[in-house]
Amino acid sequence: MSKLSRLDRRTFLRSTGMTAVAGAVGSTVPLAAEAGGAAQPQGGRYDFDTIYSRIGTDSSKWDAQIARYGRDKIEVGMGTADQDFRIAPAITRALRERVGHENFGYLSIPASYKESIVDWNKRRYGLDIDPDTIRHAPGVHSGIISTLRAFCPPGSKVLMQTPGYNGFYTDIRVVGCVAEESPLRLVNGRYQMDFEDLERRIDHDTHAFILCNPHNPTGNVWSRDDLMTLGEICARRRVVVLADEIHCDFVTKGHGYTPFASLDDEAIVRNSVTYKSVSKSFNLSMMKCAYQFSTNPDYLDRIEGAGQHRQAMNTLGIAAAEAAYNECEEWLDQLLEYIDGTLDFVDAYVRSHVPGVETVKPEGTYLAWLDVGKAMEAAGMQRAAAAAEGNPTPEQAFQRWLVDHAHIHLNPGSSYGLGGAGRMRMNTATSRQLVERALGNMAQALAAV
Ligand SMILES: Cc1ncc(COP(=O)(O)O)c(C=O)c1O
Repeated sequence: MSKLSRLDRRTFLRSTGMTAVAGAVGSTVPLAAEAGGAAQPQGGRYDFDTIYSRIGTDSSKWDAQIARYGRDKIEVGMGTADQDFRIAPAITRALRERVGHENFGYLSIPASYKESIVDWNKRRYGLDIDPDTIRHAPGVHSGIISTLRAFCPPGSKVLMQTPGYNGFYTDIRVVGCVAEESPLRLVNGRYQMDFEDLERRIDHDTHAFILCNPHNPTGNVWSRDDLMTLGEICARRRVVVLADEIHCDFVTKGHGYTPFASLDDEAIVRNSVTYKSVSKSFNLSMMKCAYQFSTNPDYLDRIEGAGQHRQAMNTLGIAAAEAAYNECEEWLDQLLEYIDGTLDFVDAYVRSHVPGVETVKPEGTYLAWLDVGKAMEAAGMQRAAAAAEGNPTPEQAFQRWLVDHAHIHLNPGSSYGLGGAGRMRMNTATSRQLVERALGNMAQALAAV
């Protein structure tokens, strides 16, 4: 029996209708203690290769899909953008220490946490952040939402580039605004910003632009020139830039991330708010620990006043984030190398083995943005979508087809707005063995159509 299925007791119980399994998590997933303590490096190397099951932990990438489609249909969950790896051992240690105190009452957010943010950004990206300009948030979404509330009256337009992160549509809807989509241009397989289109879409009713750098889902890492041109347009047209840089720590070899806040124009930088978090980099999304900063004190005041931003945080999130930034750089560097290798593998394998699928290695993120147009056509997805209940898009029909025929779960391109047709997003932040298995299954399924 594979390690994956051995660990799946809780899901099995659920699927048989035996729902009273509260507290059974410890018996269905490996506890760090059983697995030999925190994930210590061997010979200086961290292990990202061993499959680490999350089944039975209510993982949205795994358990939610198993609950929806059945255990036998999900061999590899590759949707939600998080990692399947064991976290860096220093984080586990910091959490254990804090849990040992056995009191979780209200806290002042420690200055040392802000210092860890400042040091990380300076050390890795040469970015100077004044600690007094940092505001805390339980997530990047909550920061974006309070900023949109501060700047964008209900009914007004929020500019974004598409295909674009589907969560932005939700944020825009939550504040009662409307997404104004500026499609990226696909030139020789690489996405480019269309500045003319972007500027043309700005009118008296456009007050904010959401930038995603590195870009989810295309994997683009925007250049300093791209950001300058964009920043100049937004500053001149009085459109605030919300720079979501949550994926910034993931950049593949040969590419470099430019923080929007590092641009050489004070006015452009002052017209922005940047959002970051340890959540993608160190797999701490449910620790709910993000931050935002701006060199513009008026913007920060406005967000806290009109945007009603609350600096809500949680004790364990702070402990985890501080340990991550202060002690886990080597872990992250090794992970980056691993992801880079996986993305090379995906690129080579898809080109040579997966019929009807094309891809370009992303410059950043751990997300592969697959061009599946021909595969969808071969599998008859237009017809399947038209015949299916619930009015799915052809990409949603293909998502289902892949679940049924390849036992993998990917995100449909259509959920990323204009330009997402004929695309699927594959999250590769898992053991390479599983990525290989997923692509092997996909190749086999498509070869049979
Ligand atoms: C670009 C981007 N922004 C924000 C988020 C979510 O951020 P948070 O969980 O901190 O709210 C994600 C998660 O996938 C993302 O990809």
